[in-house]
Amino acid sequence: MSDNVQMTALRYESDRPRAKNPVRIMDLSLRDGHQSLFATRGRTEDMIPVAELMDEVGFWAIETWGGATFDTMHRFLNEDPWERLRTLKRYIKKTPFSMLLRAQNLVGYRNYADDLALAFVERAAENGMDIFRTFDALNDYRNFETVVKQIKKSGKHFQGCICYTLTEPRLGGDVYNLDYYVNKAKALEEMGADSICVKDMAGLMAPYDAYPLIKALKEAVKAPIHLHSHFTSGMSPMTHLKAIEAGVDIIDTCMTPYAYRTSHAAVEPLVMALLGTSRDTGFDIKKLAAINEILEKQVMPKYKHLLDDSKVSIIDINVLLHQTPGGMLSNLVNQLREMDALDKIDEVYRELPRVRKDLGQIPLVTPTSQIVGVQTVNNVLHDTPDERYKMITGQVKDLCYGLYGKTAVPIDPELQKKALKGYPRGEEPITCRPAEVLEPELEKARAEVGELAADIDDVILYAQFPVTGRKFLEWKYGRSEPPASVRPITLEDVKKRDALVKKALAGELVEKKADSPVKTANLRTFNVFIDGEYFNVEVDPVGGSVVAVPPAQAAAPTPVPVAAPAPAPAPAAAVSSPGQPSGAAAGTHLLAPMPGMIVRYLKGIGEKVSKGETIVVLEAMKMENALNAQCDGVVKSIPFKSGDTVAKGASLCVIG
Ligand code: CO
Repeated sequence: MSDNVQMTALRYESDRPRAKNPVRIMDLSLRDGHQSLFATRGRTEDMIPVAELMDEVGFWAIETWGGATFDTMHRFLNEDPWERLRTLKRYIKKTPFSMLLRAQNLVGYRNYADDLALAFVERAAENGMDIFRTFDALNDYRNFETVVKQIKKSGKHFQGCICYTLTEPRLGGDVYNLDYYVNKAKALEEMGADSICVKDMAGLMAPYDAYPLIKALKEAVKAPIHLHSHFTSGMSPMTHLKAIEAGVDIIDTCMTPYAYRTSHAAVEPLVMALLGTSRDTGFDIKKLAAINEILEKQVMPKYKHLLDDSKVSIIDINVLLHQTPGGMLSNLVNQLREMDALDKIDEVYRELPRVRKDLGQIPLVTPTSQIVGVQTVNNVLHDTPDERYKMITGQVKDLCYGLYGKTAVPIDPELQKKALKGYPRGEEPITCRPAEVLEPELEKARAEVGELAADIDDVILYAQFPVTGRKFLEWKYGRSEPPASVRPITLEDVKKRDALVKKALAGELVEKKADSPVKTANLRTFNVFIDGEYFNVEVDPVGGSVVAVPPAQAAAPTPVPVAAPAPAPAPAAAVSSPGQPSGAAAGTHLLAPMPGMIVRYLKGIGEKVSKGETIVVLEAMKMENALNAQCDGVVKSIPFKSGDTVAKGASLCVIG
């Protein structure tokens, strides 16, 4: 036992003597927990059954919002993100709320203008947020300036994060060493941080790096030190213990059903491990067990199909091998799978550290993990022996311009020059605070969305997510019908699905009989995967046994992004211009190099284009990709519109 953790009389009861310096715990189940394990598909209705009980535990805070929740809620769940905050606040009255704020990126994927950043923080505070855990993917704290101003103005808690990353297997090296982290902590204290969090998003922190790191931080700054260390690599419970011995103030954990794998260690073992010591959490283990019981029986059945159970191991050895976040690795695998290129995964692992180095050894966290990941895949798929970086994403161009901030080491000058060739903001990169070059955007968004937005919260949602935000607002105000895929599933649905799976396994699923009943509007479709075989099962509840869900509340988790049916290439006749001899080739098709969503077309039918000009912007894996004309000509056909999902190889435009 270390000198910092002393044992008192062991008492199992919850009324045991209070520790002098208890470890404070923040629970992450309602945000990072389901974001890590269930693709952020957690619904508000599934948080309510445990909300009041969780309020009784004595958590330092409960993380309820931010990160990817804002995006997935409106996009996949047909839920208003602002409403979740207000609803949970009615059940959780004592424990402060914490959110993950991506600094000037807010809850989106690019730097937004100052006016939008101020409005977002102000409205989050008004809607009930207490602690703003703020991070910047580049650890460039100039990106904190605007949001911190508003956090303080709103009288809320500013928690400054240092993203923990490595270039070597362990802490050290030229870039991310002890001095780096101590200097970052001092900078945060100078900015007025109420607490400082080391954000180990990939679970890279080894226990014997945690000890000297936390000790050094405790000596360097006065603010409480908070550790956020994902389980992914399997080290975090050991890391927690060494951090506690070094004097860490606050630790992040999840309730057991939301714990481990790429999420966080569970709270219960930590409570028991510290029981009776000078750092005893003081938590009542029976209260925690009662919460788990509800989650296990009433909530988890609705989510278990989202759990990636393709592997038995709950630890990702690749994280230890590649020092990259687990989520990023699984994104890469998914992306390659969608492109039928899974055999290239080893090439991707080799290319990734090269791309990261070229881009200034940036930390790998949203959005930089996507930026590096997608560019790596692009390089592996499209580069030729005589040309690297053949297809540079819009975000890499922005990064090269300085729009995300200052990288840890300079970007490779050759790549920077290539990326900025013809870049609309200019070919010379900036060195100022990125938001200084951004035009105010709130009023523009307000004008664009018009009457569809009923209040400022709608406008802020639209401003960050123009395409999916507009779709959501149309559902919200009854302008269009939300698709079945966004409806929630009930325990009743789960039972039926499980019964069907059982039947299918037993070979009892029979052909449709001739006198089959007519399908009703209650019909729900499930993708069922059994031993590698795929069944598309339609379930139609009989006799109204399923509770009808009002469309406004609707949604159903989609396990995997539903692949859009590949639109048939436009028939030649439909696209040949009247002047062309009949039977002539319609023109050059611009094909989608990957599945994705159309963000916008920059050219219209009949417009003249020259080779290399951007025709359409395609969003794939949350990255925008500008697709350019391969030849000079006139736009003959545009078969899609903004918001459409397209398959790989779909013809996005015909140039003739
Ligand atoms: Co996290």
